[in-house]
Amino acid sequence: MCGIVAYIGRRPARPILLEGLKRLEYRGYDSAGLAVFNGSIAIAKSAGRVSVLEQKVNGLGGFDGTIGIAHTRWATHGEPNDTNAHPHTDDVSKGHGIALIHNGIIENYGVLKQYLEEKGHTFNSDTDTEVLTHLIGELYDGDLEAAVQGALREVTGAYAIAVICNEQPDVLVVARKGSPLMVGVGKDEYIVASDSSAIVAHTTQAFTLDDYTVAKLTRDSFRTTTVDNVPLTPQIRELEFDLDQIELGRFSHYMEKEIHEQPDSLRRCLKGRTDTREGQVVLGGIAEYARDLVKARRIIFVGQGTALHASMVGEYLMEDLAKIPTEVEFASEFRYRNPILEDGTVVIAVSQSGETADTLAAITEAKQRGALTLGVVNVVGSTIARDTDAGVYLRVGPEIGVASTKAFIGQVMVTTLLATFIGRRRFLSADYVSQLLTSLEALPDHVEKALQLSEEIKDATSRYVERENWLFLGRGHNYPVALEGALKLKEISYIHAEGMPAAEMKHGPIALIDDGMPVVFVATKNSQYEKVISNIEEVRSRGGHVIAVATEGDNAIRKVAEEVFYVPDVPEPLQPMLTVVPLQMLAYHAAVLRGKDVDKPRNLAKSVTVE
Ligand code: AGP
Ligand code: GLU
Repeated sequence: MCGIVAYIGRRPARPILLEGLKRLEYRGYDSAGLAVFNGSIAIAKSAGRVSVLEQKVNGLGGFDGTIGIAHTRWATHGEPNDTNAHPHTDDVSKGHGIALIHNGIIENYGVLKQYLEEKGHTFNSDTDTEVLTHLIGELYDGDLEAAVQGALREVTGAYAIAVICNEQPDVLVVARKGSPLMVGVGKDEYIVASDSSAIVAHTTQAFTLDDYTVAKLTRDSFRTTTVDNVPLTPQIRELEFDLDQIELGRFSHYMEKEIHEQPDSLRRCLKGRTDTREGQVVLGGIAEYARDLVKARRIIFVGQGTALHASMVGEYLMEDLAKIPTEVEFASEFRYRNPILEDGTVVIAVSQSGETADTLAAITEAKQRGALTLGVVNVVGSTIARDTDAGVYLRVGPEIGVASTKAFIGQVMVTTLLATFIGRRRFLSADYVSQLLTSLEALPDHVEKALQLSEEIKDATSRYVERENWLFLGRGHNYPVALEGALKLKEISYIHAEGMPAAEMKHGPIALIDDGMPVVFVATKNSQYEKVISNIEEVRSRGGHVIAVATEGDNAIRKVAEEVFYVPDVPEPLQPMLTVVPLQMLAYHAAVLRGKDVDKPRNLAKSVTVE
């Protein structure tokens, strides 16, 4: 999803803005632009990468001021081109020299555009954002903050915006509703950005804007209010983020780095949360709701994409360990289907970014219906983390690659801990939990071993990388892993891949199998192993190429699979955190072999903050 950076202070704004946009590139975008005030507002913008914008700006004069705004766009209204790129300005003929950048959607932009056109405004772009800029211009009477407040009272939709004005060159106004925005507080300067990765190079003191909040920033002060001009006092906190966590180091891509970080990510996720001697799980973030969770009559996980797949593993774990009826819903479906939430329902939002619009909306819907809501989130202080009643952070560190990897196993680990936390207060004995926690604590070493498969997987992948259609099959706890493996492959290599329960293949998809079609099986030793072997035979007899993730020591599977990636033997409920690793590496190598942009795949955003 798009990125916002804004600066007001005493240093040149341009390098700070451009560096900030580069820090936010991982969020996904299609065009970029910036505006700097230096006697008047200079604007440069273009479709394509930030590097294209940088060349354009550095070749021009007039960008040497100390206040500016910058944007990477992920188009929702109007194709990605130079004209529709941000910043947008108010009416050139009758305007006040207002420049604005925006993340989100102005849902009622059509009505507003008609109103403004009737007042004589003319528009250059196809975007909803330009309408908001003109509305601010229409309301402007010398006070930019008041004009922004007034305009935002008229709009519906989601926004994170930054606004500057020729007629008030020492003021930067920012605001948010539904799209993330935080303000870094420096010495006589403020750096505003979509997330902390563009702020921490300058300051670790920051506050996050809540919905309907407007902040007016000058070089030595700030004021925050509601859109109704009611004063607010934001909470300035220390950012838990350091830049070397987001440096590539020895890796070629962030996705590769994050796949290989997974053992340490799991160790950080577990740290301080397991008391193996007492057979207890320690989750401070939900402790006050322990009784509500123990008495829960139903649990509903909501999420999208990879987070949904992790939730599906969570469903098995919650019913295995806590014995509470559990279901998983696409957040986007849950929010619109008028869900029935009887007393005792707990809704758990799973989200790496904590900003996914559909997941956030699902939580809002659940809260309105009286459900207890929890967040299983990675980004500290993100909107979902703040909007849920309580939650458990993944603690896997910043995930920069658009394709989610370490967040997946972090989400599965946290749902395992959550299910064990509840189960121990219901039916699980201390001994059982102690043994389970011992297995959990051994998992990072097993993942370490699975990572050693990388070259073998790269070699095997090279034999099938030209195939355009793949199937991923698994059963039980490994069925969601098959879905996740398919998603990884398609989202970064652009190969069409479909995941499903292995048994489901016979109910239609088997018709797809022909000579040479790669079919990936998650075929580790567990309660359904023999059934999976039968499914493998069905594929082989139709000419499919079988690639299997199997348990170390299982030599028999070599008779039925052309490629076998062995992983250590772990208890069935814990297998997903291990079996997913070869599939992540398969997808990574396929994308590299096909020359794709692994960290910034086409059309995708790291966090989908629009519906
Ligand atoms: C997964 O690789 C994708 N990046 C995408 O499916 C992602 O999992 C989904 O958009 C949910 O994002 P979230 O976890 O930040 O809510
Ligand atoms: N809706 C705006 C546009 O399409 C902003 C999109 C974004 O969040 O980048 O330009």
